[in-house]
Parts: sequence; structure tokens; C-alpha cells
Amino acid sequence: MSLKSYTARQFNLSGLNGISDQTLEMHFKLYEGYVKETNNLTERIGKFLEDGKVDQEEMPAYSELTRRLGFEYNGMVLHEYYFDNMKQGGSVDPEQGSKFIEAAKESFGSYEIWKADFVGIGKMRGVGWAMCYQDPNNGNLSNHWITLHQVGNVAGFTPILVMDVWEHAYLLDYKPAERPKYIEAFFSNIDWQAVEARLKTGTSARPMTA
Ligand SMILES: [Fe+2]
Repeated sequence: MSLKSYTARQFNLSGLNGISDQTLEMHFKLYEGYVKETNNLTERIGKFLEDGKVDQEEMPAYSELTRRLGFEYNGMVLHEYYFDNMKQGGSVDPEQGSKFIEAAKESFGSYEIWKADFVGIGKMRGVGWAMCYQDPNNGNLSNHWITLHQVGNVAGFTPILVMDVWEHAYLLDYKPAERPKYIEAFFSNIDWQAVEARLKTGTSARPMTA
């Protein structure tokens, strides 16, 4: 828990390609709910700690609220990464020779293979997120499936590209079975400059073999 509270951020994303303003408005409201609930849980947990200890009879309620923190915190943070890596006038792929293309090539052999993996993860059945992470210790990229918001995140890794594949991300624009169309729309709105600003180069603290 923490004594500070979070403020929901504002995002200017109207006019995206294939993701309607109506969807975004609804999605911003959901995001604001995660911020609110993160603050709410923090405050309620704080009340248990006011006397400097967690009494035995408080433990079940205290535990339940604390267990929920991972869901709410990640719900807040992942949505911020997601909204931040889209923009009006985005582009499907990064420019040839760009930092991301080079990093994908280093880690996957080619950008195309990286993309096949990321899109494949996005199509996986279930409610969650497709994530491209960078290991800050060696620069390696890896793609991951996150169940809900909190299961599968890799501790200490940096989110580089984040795609929400909960149905609320596309249900007003596509049918539930049309997730591939949403993924295509998502890719056409990617802000690759924002993505590349998250990348770090020149680190080697965790060795890998080729
Ligand atoms: Fe979402």
C-alpha cells in the first residue's frame, strides 16, 4: 500500500482508425475506474494500519483487499501504456532501420517473426493483454500473454508495446469473434515513436547465448 493517491490521466485519441471514439470514451471511463479503485483500496488498507498493526481479526479483510491491489494497479498502469502507444495518424509498422526493427531482429531473427508472435498472442482465447517487454539487463525483447491484468507480468521488465485484448476494447466496433480485425486496427494506430522511446540500448547485465 501507499499513502499517495493517483490521478487519472487524460488521453487525446479521437479519430483513430477502426477504433471508434465511442469505444475510447467507454474505455477511458473503465480506466478511470481502475485509478479510483487503486486509491480506494489503498485508503481502506491504510485504515487497518492506523494503529500500527494488523490485528488477527482484521487479517481476512486486510488480505482480501491487499490481494486485489495487483488487479487494480495493473489495470491502471497497463491502460496508460496502451493509450500512450496509439495516436491518430499512427503507422502499421515501424520505419525500416528503426530502433524497434533492430531490437526485434536481434531478439527474434526478424521483425516479421516478432509480429507473428505478438499478433498470435493477441488472438489467444481468454481475457487479457498481449505485451512486448524488454529485459532492461540485456535489451532482449520477449512477448507475453497476461491473464486479466496481473497474471504473467515479468518483474522488472519494461513494457514496450501493450495491446488490450479484453472484449471491451473492441466490442462496440467488432463482434467477439472478430478480434483479428481489432488487432489489425490497433496496429494501424501504433505510435512507434512512443514505443521506441521506451526502448533502452547498450545494456548487458544479464548475459544470453546466441
Ligand atoms: Fe481495457
